[in-house]
Amino acid sequence: MTRRFLFVLGSSRTESNTEMLARRAAEQLPADVEQQWITLAEHPLPEFVDLRHDSDHVRPTEGSLGLLFDATLAATDIVIASPLYWYSVSAPVKRYLDYWSGWLRIPGVEFKATLAGRTLWGVTALAHEESEVADPLVGTLNNSAAYMGMRFGGVLLGNGSKPGDVLNDTEALARAKTFFAREAPLARFPYETD
Ligand SMILES: Cc1cc2nc3c(=O)[nH]c(=O)nc-3n(C[C@H](O)[C@H](O)[C@H](O)COP(=O)(O)O)c2cc1C
Repeated sequence: MTRRFLFVLGSSRTESNTEMLARRAAEQLPADVEQQWITLAEHPLPEFVDLRHDSDHVRPTEGSLGLLFDATLAATDIVIASPLYWYSVSAPVKRYLDYWSGWLRIPGVEFKATLAGRTLWGVTALAHEESEVADPLVGTLNNSAAYMGMRFGGVLLGNGSKPGDVLNDTEALARAKTFFAREAPLARFPYETD
């Protein structure tokens, strides 16, 4: 199967350090790997309503929801490119992930089975110098991948506050060069041991 990377961009500004870092990493992908980039700020999702136990879910076909739904199902690799906001993913990214809970219940779609074995990746920019403050974001993505039976490639971290700062983080740029070449093992919850 040809690999197809979906980049979900979750910054709330146009000059995004996270996007710059993600693009540096994506530059290294082989030419035959398809890339789709979706900026959530340009495709805002409606407020998520939890209808899991109330009604049948309907496959979204139109607008931003339809676009993201189709792109998510078509991707072999999903890259969550979110700035670090309050130590976790940004609100637009969180909302996108909330929708997964509804998509799990759409009859005939087999959302979980389709994503199982595919790979989740993360890219984030943060202002804090000590990268371990991003552990909640890393945990969110790792555990979400584990829940979905996905592989997890880890999170590429870059430092910066104002737009463009991340381009001065030479260590992050060096990590970006090989980030998508790394092994992505099946994600495990922290309590799971081999
Ligand atoms: C709402 C908000 C929350 C933030 N929370 C954090 C945080 O918890 N830790 C941190 O190190 N930086 C935090 N920052 C700083 C951003 O992570 C930093 O400016 C980053 O470069 C933004 O990435 P972007 O350019 O891709 O949007 C926050 C910024 C905003 C606007």
